[in-house]
Amino acid sequence: MQKKFWNSYGAWDEIAKSDDINFVMSRITGKPVEKWRVNHLSDTARAAMATVIGEGVIRQGPSLGVLDFGCGVGRNAGLLKTMYGRVYGCDIPEMLEQIKGKDPIKARDLYEGFYTSLQDAFKDNTIHTLYDSVVFQHIIDADFNAAAAEAVHSHESLDCHFSLTNKSVGETLLIKQLKSRGWKITHEEVDVESFLGSPHIVYIMRRPG
Ligand SMILES: C[S@@+](CC[C@H](N)C(=O)[O-])C[C@H]1O[C@@H](n2cnc3c(N)ncnc32)[C@H](O)[C@@H]1O
Repeated sequence: MQKKFWNSYGAWDEIAKSDDINFVMSRITGKPVEKWRVNHLSDTARAAMATVIGEGVIRQGPSLGVLDFGCGVGRNAGLLKTMYGRVYGCDIPEMLEQIKGKDPIKARDLYEGFYTSLQDAFKDNTIHTLYDSVVFQHIIDADFNAAAAEAVHSHESLDCHFSLTNKSVGETLLIKQLKSRGWKITHEEVDVESFLGSPHIVYIMRRPG
């Protein structure tokens, strides 16, 4: 039997043929979507991120870097750009074609660069935060998650993992893997605003020490 990489929602290489973020969300929820909010984060999660960023600025200086993993067409790029000096995007090649080509929500120029693996993004840049907005919840391949956790843990500047996941999924495999390396969840809240009332959880994790 073929090994499953994504959960049942994500034939992402197929979905990436569309550049319409509302279509992407409809595909995930199975419901028609008129407007998937762009650059949305609750006030409480934003305040928690401000604390993380404040500490990072003290330790690493003002030009903090964030990797928007599974950036899609850049729905969160503007938000990340208000918090970080450098924003990098990572997605599968098919999806990156959308942002590099049609750039439907004009987010392309907010990114310093694009990558197709987090390992490559870490090799070239100093990253402080791994930002996951409803991406790792879909990736069920244990080996991929183990390799991602190893890459995150070994990238020493990286001390924060932000994750937004569907409440029914809860902690992703990556979160579980990071926990086993001593990372801790420092902020957790239920967010019902991002997905038209469907409860999601915001997790913020920090490196030990
Ligand atoms: C639900 S969409 C979320 C997009 C974006 N984070 C947002 O909040 O609008 C999931 C994204 O994960 C991307 N993705 C799936 N597998 C991936 C992988 N192995 N590496 C990078 N991105 C991936 C998909 O192409 C898609 O853009």
